[in-house]
Amino acid sequence: MKKFRAFIALDSKTNHENLKVVKKLHPYVYGFKVGYRSFYNINSDRLIKEIKKNKSKLFLDLKLHDIPNTVGSALESLSKINPDYLTIHISGGSTMMKYALSTIKQKKMKTKLLGVTLLTSLDSKDSRDIYNEHDTAKLVKKFASLAKKSEINGIICAGSDLSEIKRFKSLLKITPGVKMFNRKDDQKRVTYVHDALNLGANFVVIGRELINSKDPKSMLQKYYEKYQNQNLWTN
Ligand code: C5P
Repeated sequence: MKKFRAFIALDSKTNHENLKVVKKLHPYVYGFKVGYRSFYNINSDRLIKEIKKNKSKLFLDLKLHDIPNTVGSALESLSKINPDYLTIHISGGSTMMKYALSTIKQKKMKTKLLGVTLLTSLDSKDSRDIYNEHDTAKLVKKFASLAKKSEINGIICAGSDLSEIKRFKSLLKITPGVKMFNRKDDQKRVTYVHDALNLGANFVVIGRELINSKDPKSMLQKYYEKYQNQNLWTN
């Protein structure tokens, strides 16, 4: 059985709250994901320092998407932070991804680039409206193929897309939009944590369900136990 590897999404209102989460949970998780809210918030430098100090992996979820030169130069600005993982939209195109990769190489960064496929908050209707393709798995396969050609390190995809993209063995697969219980929020394509790992995700990203729970540490233990107990798997 593959290791239970989870990133915790630090999307709390203040970085003071995020810091508390890092201090409490760092021994039990693979790393922490710093997204728009916490990166743009005050004290993001302190948060990033704390993550690094504890030797947790730093995942910057900035979902870059702009012209190639702008994205390449954004990487230059990020080189001092040198995150372990960074997201970029695959829909920004191959040249954009290549510019990002080239700055990573030039600046000798350790950063692994992860391409966003179709957001887990979008379903087949949204996919048809935006991309004229109602079959989300087909669209994600197309994105995965472009990610592979562009030689980025991995992709972000929903748990329901994982079985369709198994053949892209060289790409890391990261699955957000996961749960233990039923969720009622903006996420539309949601999977159980244990199913996502079982279906081929290298890591899962766990957010609000864990952070807003009464006891995040014991909740984390429950995700782990469910993953260990194959009788509870959907497949
Ligand atoms: O709280 P929740 O479990 O929905 O957190 C999921 C996290 O993963 C959020 O920080 C969100 O920004 C991020 N994410 C996502 N879907 C993607 C890429 C990232 O939900 N395709």
